[in-house]
Amino acid sequence: MIDKIKQLINEIGGISAANNEELEALRIKYLGKKGEINALMADFRNVAAEQKKEVGMLINELKNKAQDRIKELKEKFESQETVSDSIDLTRTAYPIKLGTRHPLSIVKNEIIDIFGRMGFCIANGPEVEDDWHVFGSMNFAEDHPARDMQDTFFIESHPDVILRTHTSSVESRVMEHTQPPIRAIMPGRVYRNEAISYRAHCFFHQVEGLYVDENVSFTDLKQVLLQFAKEMFGENTKIRLRPSYFPFTEPSAEMDISCNICGGKGCPFCKGTGWVEILGCGMTDPNVLELCGIDSKKYTGYAFGMGVERIANLKYQVKDLRMFSENDQRFLEEFESAN
Ligand code: DAH
Repeated sequence: MIDKIKQLINEIGGISAANNEELEALRIKYLGKKGEINALMADFRNVAAEQKKEVGMLINELKNKAQDRIKELKEKFESQETVSDSIDLTRTAYPIKLGTRHPLSIVKNEIIDIFGRMGFCIANGPEVEDDWHVFGSMNFAEDHPARDMQDTFFIESHPDVILRTHTSSVESRVMEHTQPPIRAIMPGRVYRNEAISYRAHCFFHQVEGLYVDENVSFTDLKQVLLQFAKEMFGENTKIRLRPSYFPFTEPSAEMDISCNICGGKGCPFCKGTGWVEILGCGMTDPNVLELCGIDSKKYTGYAFGMGVERIANLKYQVKDLRMFSENDQRFLEEFESAN
């Protein structure tokens, strides 16, 4: 028995384990209930009385060594912990910070939604345009003073290449490819050679609308615009149409809505009038229909064009137009939207 114990004492000094499972197996082998040391303890009562003292001390020594060695190995593992062990995979993740929609996109999407429910689809056209689509097809005569109404960006070496000054150019893009019925809205960016200030920028955004079919009347136009104004600015919103002039519509009008900031009472935003202008509109000039390949004897149409920044200003009262293009996060984060 003494030999057996001495052999185990030797053995214990040399044990090693590659991982926690192996270490646990060793612990059970030596220190477990049915392990080597307990087996020796059980045999202890058969030891001759004169040897009891020596055997007892050896068993104790073995037990201490086994405990020390296992503890030592365990500490070794713990200090060798790998990176993956130190990552807590059960921890909840950091929330991902979502961006917010740009206020102009929020307003544009709302406009698209409202007209979408009234049966308008979306059409797009290029921002870099030619003279024909921006002016010619829209009934601006070659020397028409109306061309001066809009300060156009030209490219000196290519006089026919311009940045569109209005989304009305998309009307002609749609009509040259599509026969009526046409019912489309055309959102997009437009460019004008303006000095940049808090109330003007060299680019801004418009949404154009066009409806061409048989028997389209001014009444249809007015009804659709009234519906739009109520959905955009609230059920109590009123509209008024003032006669105006555009080369591409006849008759033409500008539409005001009752100022939704003061409720029509008069405030600095509406300059005390109670009304704010939000769009231009009219019956598509028969010349425009013909220039775009549509039979003006059979069809009539209406069109309108509104500035997105202007509507965003009415909704959010942004004092400085430049905020819309500066991408200041503190400004952008103020706008939250689901769409
Ligand atoms: N194109 C005009 C502008 O940029 C806005 C406009 C007025 C569009 C009347 C229209 C319209 O379609 O009928 O100022």
